[in-house]
Amino acid sequence: MVDRPLIQHIVEEVLSSGITEIILVTRSGKSAIENHFNRLDEVESLLKEKGKNELLERLNSSIYDELNIVSIRQDRALGLGHAIYCAQHLISPDENFAVILPDVLIKNRTECQSISTDLAKMVEASNVTQSAQIMVHEVAPTEVEQYGIVDCKGVALSPGESTPIYNLVEKPTQDKAPSCLSVVGRYILPGRIMATLGKTTAGVGGEIQLTDAISSLIASGYPVDAYSMTSRVFDCGNIKGWANANYILAKEAGLID
Ligand code: G1P
Repeated sequence: MVDRPLIQHIVEEVLSSGITEIILVTRSGKSAIENHFNRLDEVESLLKEKGKNELLERLNSSIYDELNIVSIRQDRALGLGHAIYCAQHLISPDENFAVILPDVLIKNRTECQSISTDLAKMVEASNVTQSAQIMVHEVAPTEVEQYGIVDCKGVALSPGESTPIYNLVEKPTQDKAPSCLSVVGRYILPGRIMATLGKTTAGVGGEIQLTDAISSLIASGYPVDAYSMTSRVFDCGNIKGWANANYILAKEAGLID
């Protein structure tokens, strides 16, 4: 993504929200992601020796000092809910944790290079209200089939605000969608959702869906809020979103006209 891998943009966003412990859920063939977060002492020394300070700075090694990162494997592609459940032994039922979908890039509205503060605001909101937070933004009616869609009983949300969610539907058809507010890929969830995920059976697409576990959480009376994002979102899981993000980031960094 212009000057660094997408995963680094994501880790920088997470660190800026005050979260320093990261669990990567990967699978075979993805070791490049784990390797990226290993400090390259020999490269750093070489750059220092040669006086290549600009390149040295771009390695951005300062992020590694605060980062505590581990990775675990999802051995079968059984869905997002299953991927999260793979980390259940690392999350206490009494603590909140964030779920970050790293194909979704989030950047401030002005100056695309600067880091979004939305995740930090969600952490703060969940600490104050003791409710789960799910980042949402409005999509076109033709796009609802690609996302989780929330039902907030028609409440009009301004950017930066949260409101209760009454239900969530994964990838509904246009006629079944309760709104056009889509789940962006940033969640603050209670550790107890792991027990729910363990009981969640395959849903849309034959996959174990996080959306279904969150719906069960809501049905059990746990408060879950929709947080309306203030930043820009680029869905880099599709080629159009990825190309668009590269173009806008490069343009705002002054790299292209
Ligand atoms: C996942 C979630 C969906 C969410 C989306 C955001 O879907 O299941 O609820 O809206 O991420 O990108 P996926 O993109 O993995 O199909």
